[in-house]
Amino acid sequence: MGKILAVINQKGGVGKTTTSINLAAGLARAGRQVLLIDLDPQAHSTIGLGIEPGSYQLAMHDVLLNQRAIREIILPTQVPRLFLAPSHIRLDKAEHQLTPELFREAILKRALRDLEYDFIVIDCRPTLGTLTINALYASDLIVVPCEVGRYALDGFADLMETIEKVKNCDARSKEQFIRILLTRYDSRNKLSNEWVLEQLAPYKNLLFRTIIRKNEALNQAHMAQEPIFTFKPDSPGAQDYRELTQEVLRLCPMPSATN
Ligand SMILES: Nc1ncnc2c1ncn2[C@@H]1O[C@H](COP(=O)(O)OP(=O)(O)O)[C@@H](O)[C@H]1O
Ligand SMILES: [Mg+2]
Repeated sequence: MGKILAVINQKGGVGKTTTSINLAAGLARAGRQVLLIDLDPQAHSTIGLGIEPGSYQLAMHDVLLNQRAIREIILPTQVPRLFLAPSHIRLDKAEHQLTPELFREAILKRALRDLEYDFIVIDCRPTLGTLTINALYASDLIVVPCEVGRYALDGFADLMETIEKVKNCDARSKEQFIRILLTRYDSRNKLSNEWVLEQLAPYKNLLFRTIIRKNEALNQAHMAQEPIFTFKPDSPGAQDYRELTQEVLRLCPMPSATN
């Protein structure tokens, strides 16, 4: 099995879905077989790939609750080699139903066991509840999008503590599992950028080198329900997500990859 990447931050609006869609599409364009799992009941990744909730019968809650095989729910997308495990609003209820279950944190990992993708990218909801813990537990690499702004680090300590607990790692070995991705970076905000980077100094080793700039084309691509690479291939957003894709490929070398 390939690498499992979980895109996590309990704050909303920091770029989790934008990163999930465009990183997954970037990896597929680089020749990898990719599955994007939408683990947010709001289904933004599903919609963002042009698939309307209601147009499919089965979704992630059927896998987590009803023991349907994940293969049964996977859909092709408009991007070659990119597949989607869609979400539905019923996933919210599923999370409540899962919470009292024994070994509930391991359900997703078990469901992914026999899949053969080079990369699985999991878009998480903005909480640290049972669904997100499942994604953490299943993942090889945790991508934490962090909006460069005044509240960038709110909740960050909680997130790190949760990761340490679930992955059973200490502060040092975290480097193996976690990468922080700075998003919506605006070079004009010199002072606040400096402030955020100063606050992030203790986590320097965990930062992706790639920084995602603020770019309206990313927002427009999401509304047009397609990845940035087809919507506006020359935009700064496309450049940044291409660079991120290359960085992830370097971080997760795959001997079996075709490209
Ligand atoms: N780098 C960026 N530049 C401009 N707009 C962005 C950028 N990243 C995300 N957005 C927009 O910000 C909003 C929130 O992003 P989203 O990826 O949905 O966050 P999350 O999934 O963490 O809630 C969306 O409207 C998205 O299109
Ligand atoms: Mg989202």
